Amino acid sequence: MKLAVLYNPPGALLPGEPIDKYAEHDGEETIRGLCGALERLGHTPTPVIADRRLPWRLDEGGFDAAFNIAEGEGRRSREAIPAAVCELLGVPYTHSDPLTLAVCLDKDVARRLVSSEVRVARGGVVSSRAELVALGLRFPVIVKPNDEGSSKGIRGGPLAADEDAAWSKVRWLTETYGCPVLVEELVTGAEVTVGLRGNGDDVELLGITELGPVRPGPEPFVYTHELKTDPNYAEHMYIRPTPQLPADQLQAIEGAARAAFRLLGCRDVARVDLRLNDAGEPVFLECNPIPGLKPGWSDLVLMTRDRMSYDELIGGVLVAAQRRWSKP
Ligand SMILES: Nc1ncnc2c1ncn2[C@@H]1O[C@H](COP(=O)(O)OP(=O)(O)OP(=O)(O)O)[C@@H](O)[C@H]1O
Ligand SMILES: [Mg+2]
Repeated sequence: MKLAVLYNPPGALLPGEPIDKYAEHDGEETIRGLCGALERLGHTPTPVIADRRLPWRLDEGGFDAAFNIAEGEGRRSREAIPAAVCELLGVPYTHSDPLTLAVCLDKDVARRLVSSEVRVARGGVVSSRAELVALGLRFPVIVKPNDEGSSKGIRGGPLAADEDAAWSKVRWLTETYGCPVLVEELVTGAEVTVGLRGNGDDVELLGITELGPVRPGPEPFVYTHELKTDPNYAEHMYIRPTPQLPADQLQAIEGAARAAFRLLGCRDVARVDLRLNDAGEPVFLECNPIPGLKPGWSDLVLMTRDRMSYDELIGGVLVAAQRRWSKP
């Protein structure tokens, strides 16, 4: 197949812009890795930047389909736009549809959708001090951008011990990123990320990875932007593709992740982040319907590397999409 690999490369930071402005964007290494895998699988991939020229690039490129890992541009619906352009032009594409991509990027909307079956932390979007007070949250809380990923904005101490600290963090995030801000009660048990691949009755568990601090301290563990970009992260945190958790908790984690995948309408592949509460029950944090695919680095790659090659990981996503496309 002649495949367009849709992506958004990081731009150059302008003076005064936050250091993690392009944290979600995919660099050359990911695109090279992905295109290499698609070539070895017998396809002809072409990297296509998902900017304002995307409709023309796609229309004139004569592609059979698109492999979509684009972050898009704009605010909470940005990830939906490249997928929507594919729909507009009738180009079949991998990963979720525009509605799911938009919903998952708005963490609060995603929380509301999954909360019919999966626990979520108490919290909500806050734009005034009165709204923060009205939530009546138990402290400490975590204060995070409502529509970002890759731990963007989760830096410089994202936890707040009281209302004053939480409100000052809300204001910092709003001023720095111009984004709505989500404040959530802290869930302090084990943290896991769950990879799922496939569709309908054929959704396969790619793995469950447990994350945590190497030396637990008095402060609860948070997977911050600082940790995500630290080449020496292993000195501070472990990433265990074989979680050291009891079987019943693992079963509950898998069940919650599968429920979130279904309730959010995910397709082909996704990664669901959860954390256990004091009772050992899984609590939904967020869902990533375009999970990172950087060779040797991203969660999905690390969680599967003992069982499948990078090419098999990518090939399975494409096969799941192709099965979907072939249905009337
Ligand atoms: N309510 C919470 N309780 C405890 N920890 C939390 C909570 N919300 C977020 N965290 C911590 O902050 C980290 C980042 O949060 P979250 O997964 O929502 O952000 P993200 O930037 O979308 O992440 P990703 O890099 O997976 O896209 C989590 O991995 C977790 O360590
Ligand atoms: Mg996350």
